[in-house]
Amino acid sequence: MSYDLIVIGSGPGGYVCAIKAAQLGLKVAVVEKRATYGGTCLNIGCIPSKALLHASEMFEEVGHLDALGIKVAKPKLDLPGMLAHKDATVKSNVDGVAYLFKKNKIDGHIGTGSIAAPGKVVVTKEDGSTATLETKAIVIATGSDSAPLPGVEIDEKRIVTSTGALTLDKVPSKLIVVGAGVIGLELGSVWRRLGAEVTVVEFLDRILPGMDGEVAKQFQRMLEKQGFAFKLGTKVTAVDTSGKTLKATIELAKGGAAETIEADVVLVAIGRRPFTEGLGLEAAGVELDERKRVKVDGHYQTNVPGIYAIGDVIAGPMLAHKAEDEGVAVAEILAGQAGHVNYDAIPGVVYTSPEVATVGKTEEELKAAGIAYKVGKFPFSANGRARAMLATDGFVKILSDANTDRLLGAHIVGKGAGEMIHEAVVLMEFAGSAEDLARSTHAHPTMSESIKEAALAAWFKPIHM
Ligand code: FAD
Ligand code: NAI
Repeated sequence: MSYDLIVIGSGPGGYVCAIKAAQLGLKVAVVEKRATYGGTCLNIGCIPSKALLHASEMFEEVGHLDALGIKVAKPKLDLPGMLAHKDATVKSNVDGVAYLFKKNKIDGHIGTGSIAAPGKVVVTKEDGSTATLETKAIVIATGSDSAPLPGVEIDEKRIVTSTGALTLDKVPSKLIVVGAGVIGLELGSVWRRLGAEVTVVEFLDRILPGMDGEVAKQFQRMLEKQGFAFKLGTKVTAVDTSGKTLKATIELAKGGAAETIEADVVLVAIGRRPFTEGLGLEAAGVELDERKRVKVDGHYQTNVPGIYAIGDVIAGPMLAHKAEDEGVAVAEILAGQAGHVNYDAIPGVVYTSPEVATVGKTEEELKAAGIAYKVGKFPFSANGRARAMLATDGFVKILSDANTDRLLGAHIVGKGAGEMIHEAVVLMEFAGSAEDLARSTHAHPTMSESIKEAALAAWFKPIHM
């Protein structure tokens, strides 16, 4: 069988690329080594984590309804029921991808794909049988895998990555999270809400590196109020698994005396690394960069003509929507159109409570680039809707160009931040200004009015402060 395009990997990058290419008239196949489509995101990432984040947030909220004049009995946790909700959510999403493949006449091949040569992909099934497929173009969309912590062996039961942390069959009484990044804070939140005592050990002296510093600092305080303990500037050097409880050895990142802390479960969440194993890239002559990511040009083509790459396996933020948009762009390029991704306007959301959402530049980045900027801030404590919902934690921060008023960044900590950020994303796509945002009518009363007020603050003066 000969195709116009074979996509290796069916995560958000790969499956979206396949669908878009099929829509544009290409004959497409997808090769996926997992039994179900959807990649990390749908099977063991975004989707199951959000199912547990929502369920655990509801569990915690039900216990705190007194302030709204609602008396309920103390909620009881049905962990198997909560995990079943997560599994059902995953199933409906991965089944949805299989349906979309059928609808768009995309051939799915379950097996490990490797590149025998440009235009030739070998699929090896679980039983060892192989098939060779021919194609005009290949897109590598094989994603990423958890980065290991030297000296600490993952068993996915007591010492887990995010994958094991999504399937714990008991709430740990003590959980150590290594890494105060997105996974650590999201999955740490899930298990804290369900009753675990959570200690986060982070190598750097701050949480959420890469995010606006002020946002991260205020957010850390909120998490501490919720019961999170942070050990910043600290590293885990070993975990002793010989006893009933785990004993983690920690020491200051800059060196010093070692200390031991105990836990039932240790979650290692120190980043992810590109996954290229078994693809035959070396034999095919495909170059990797210094961090073992597949190197691509501005059109997502590798150094080998006809072989392209997108998503977590190439440079850039490891986010599902970034992978999706690259999938669309490369499909358009292969169909002879002008595919393009605007890397300056890719939002990032941490789905904790409250949520953290961000797009564009941070204050630190603007300072480092020597760009003159203005800051406008507005706290949710001054927002009527937030007061009505008892959701006054957090604030909006708008960064605009001091000379042109162009919106350069937006950062929100607050309930629903992940939904609200998109008005800033769209505005940035159209190179809008803080004044544009401030003059756009926002429905009252909404949390989003705080974005308008922060934009007003950056451009001129807020009304409600
Ligand atoms: P992947 O989704 O990793 O898919 C790659 C696929 O390729 C996999 O299915 C793999 O089995 C397959 N594959 C690999 N090698 C081969 C081969 N040789 N042959 C055949 N198939 C192969 N991002 C967000 O934007 N929002 C979130 O809320 C979010 N939550 C996350 C939560 C967790 C716990 C984790 C771990 C990640 C989360 N992410 C989130 C990140 C997101 O999952 C990734 O950015 C995204 O999945 C990357 O998509 P991708 O298509 O590049 O690769
Ligand atoms: P991350 O890069 O977000 O955070 C890793 C953290 O671990 C960093 O703070 C880093 O300084 C720290 N660290 C590294 N080595 C350490 C060590 N030895 N000891 C202690 N701390 C150490 O990575 P994370 O959380 O594993 O997530 C991986 C990727 O998945 C991220 O790039 C993220 O974009 C994506 N993701 C996105 C989500 C979302 O968009 N909501 C949710 C979950 C994951």
